[in-house]
Amino acid sequence: MSMQKMLVSTTLIGATLAGAAQAEEVNVYSYRQEFLLKPLIEAFTAETGIKVNVVFAKSGLLERVEHEGQNTPADLILTADIGPLHDAVERDLVAPINSEIINRNVPEHYRAEDNKWIGLTSRARIIYASKDRVEPGEIQTYEDLADPKWEGKICTRSGKHTYNLSLIGSMIAHHGEAETEQWLEAVKSNLARKPQGNDRAQVKAIKEGVCDLALGNSYYYGKMVTNDKEPEQKEWAASAFLVFPNQDGRGAHMNISGAALTKYAPHPEAAVKLVEFLTEKQAQELYAEANFEFPVRPNTPWSDLLEEHMGEFKGDEINLGKVAEQRSAAAKMVDKVGFDN
Ligand SMILES: [Fe+2]
Repeated sequence: MSMQKMLVSTTLIGATLAGAAQAEEVNVYSYRQEFLLKPLIEAFTAETGIKVNVVFAKSGLLERVEHEGQNTPADLILTADIGPLHDAVERDLVAPINSEIINRNVPEHYRAEDNKWIGLTSRARIIYASKDRVEPGEIQTYEDLADPKWEGKICTRSGKHTYNLSLIGSMIAHHGEAETEQWLEAVKSNLARKPQGNDRAQVKAIKEGVCDLALGNSYYYGKMVTNDKEPEQKEWAASAFLVFPNQDGRGAHMNISGAALTKYAPHPEAAVKLVEFLTEKQAQELYAEANFEFPVRPNTPWSDLLEEHMGEFKGDEINLGKVAEQRSAAAKMVDKVGFDN
């Protein structure tokens, strides 16, 4: 649905509600897709009677909250990455969420120190490796990607893409800028081609013999192996094995999808109830499974597919805020080394 259409329907819903007895409601601006949220929202409304109005968009939502200022109808911002959550805090658009339920359900490293953003699902940024041309164990860390033995063998999307900015940001958080810059330059010189396409396109390139290693988010594996609409993606996935990097050290770089409460939220209590609901066991299972992500809540069962293909792995437990802080330095570094040129 287009943003304009969505706006109209949101307004109509608002008008209808104003006419009825003051039913509780929450307004959400979402970068997450409708198919992911819909079943969760329906379950939330069924349980609490609170109506949820959602504006879905691919970009521009933070700008919109900023522009609307004190008059914003938005209570919550839902994102598919730490980047926009961190940006929302930097732009002073959000308020802390104080909730014992959330603090109990979401590990500290997946929450802002002041709870100005909350992680709801997680994913690892992993290495896809060619089954035909790479031996198991031959590549084990992000640092290994800089080894000259991989010259002309690595594929990735743009260094400026939000997923890569967070990965490079995590390298800076762990190694500092000077060492990370050397690493990034070495990875650049190992690229098989100019960065292009999305994460899945890199796995396709492995299948086609263009490269041996590719960076990609973990959930794309699930999306490819189950893709009945485009069955060729099953073959892309089958050509690679998954490497969760740095298992003998800090663990794989993790990113989150998450939520932030707007500073001028008209319905802050109902909004916090929705975030609480999303961190509880049942919603965590549903939310993570719908997109082959991991629940952030400990002791939540994983889908069979994740259990089978990803099993137990170690994720980096650095606070994601520390990683997000380095994203602008990462972006400058990508330009400086000419990573995308
Ligand atoms: Fe994605």
